[in-house]
Amino acid sequence: MPLSDPSAPVLAIDGPSGSGKGTISRAVAGQLGWHYLDSGALYRGVGVAAGWNDIDLADPAALVRCTFDTRIAFSDTPGGEPRVLINDVDATDELRTETAGAAASAIAAIPEVRSALKERQRAFRQQPGLVADGRDMGTVIFPDARWKVFLTASAEERAERRYKQLIGKGVSVTLDGLLREILARDARDANRPVAPLRPADDAVRIDTTGVGIDEVVARVLAVVRG
Ligand code: C5P
Repeated sequence: MPLSDPSAPVLAIDGPSGSGKGTISRAVAGQLGWHYLDSGALYRGVGVAAGWNDIDLADPAALVRCTFDTRIAFSDTPGGEPRVLINDVDATDELRTETAGAAASAIAAIPEVRSALKERQRAFRQQPGLVADGRDMGTVIFPDARWKVFLTASAEERAERRYKQLIGKGVSVTLDGLLREILARDARDANRPVAPLRPADDAVRIDTTGVGIDEVVARVLAVVRG
């Protein structure tokens, strides 16, 4: 693992699931020519590996061991979503399932898992800069980030975005079910004792409800470019 470069600038982008963080962060990183950290993929990756190894999500000690034992690597796909390799197996599609998201959220509440992933996340801080996407980028992982953005959107709009995405992939879901899942995940992420989802005091909040991707990207770039 490379050492982090504390002199590299960081843009932290935090927010709840479905706020558009992933799409926006990747686009902003592409425009700036910076590195991109999808921190959620690390939690999801541990969740998927736990599933492969039949580890009980209610067994924190086994999950901590699994975190240390799991190698997660990102491969660059120019112009596309990076592929995610878990112990050298391409698990990009499995990572995006609701099951992986729910497992990630359960695992993310374990303090030892969070601290085991801390340095792995900080290692992404390299020149010429890093766009870090997650829940605690501005509060815990990069509290000294030069810019912090907190993206939000109404739960209804987030459920609708997810619905369109999944239906487009041929997955059968209901809008109501997705809304319930999003609200449950929000509550779990916001109420956990370690690194709860909350905006950093110095974060710029951007509500993306009813706002198109290009416009949100422009607003985030305006934060960085002043
Ligand atoms: O962002 P994504 O939906 O991929 O994250 C999956 C889960 O991982 C979140 O619901 C959250 O519980 C957890 N997570 C976290 N801290 C981060 C990123 C993700 O706790 N920095």
